[in-house]
Amino acid sequence: MNLPSPPPTDPFEVELEEGQNYFWCLCGLSQKQPFCDGAHKGSGLKSHCFTAEATGKKFLCGCKQTKNPPYCDGSHTEIC
Ligand code: FES
Repeated sequence: MNLPSPPPTDPFEVELEEGQNYFWCLCGLSQKQPFCDGAHKGSGLKSHCFTAEATGKKFLCGCKQTKNPPYCDGSHTEIC
């Protein structure tokens, strides 16, 4: 099983637009965090596609440990 690379450990505050599709980086390799830039190719991991349900600011997970992807659920506070 491939594991994500060590990613940033804090969430990213982003502006989302209702109905817009986004690709959240799951591998931790993207240079455009928290969004995918295709760097996962060959890692065995894929990006996570989601559609914004509302326009506004959201916190997307940076640590890649959230149990509610792509949104921060506070799991980053448990990382040593
Ligand atoms: S940054 Fe991953 S759960 Fe908060």
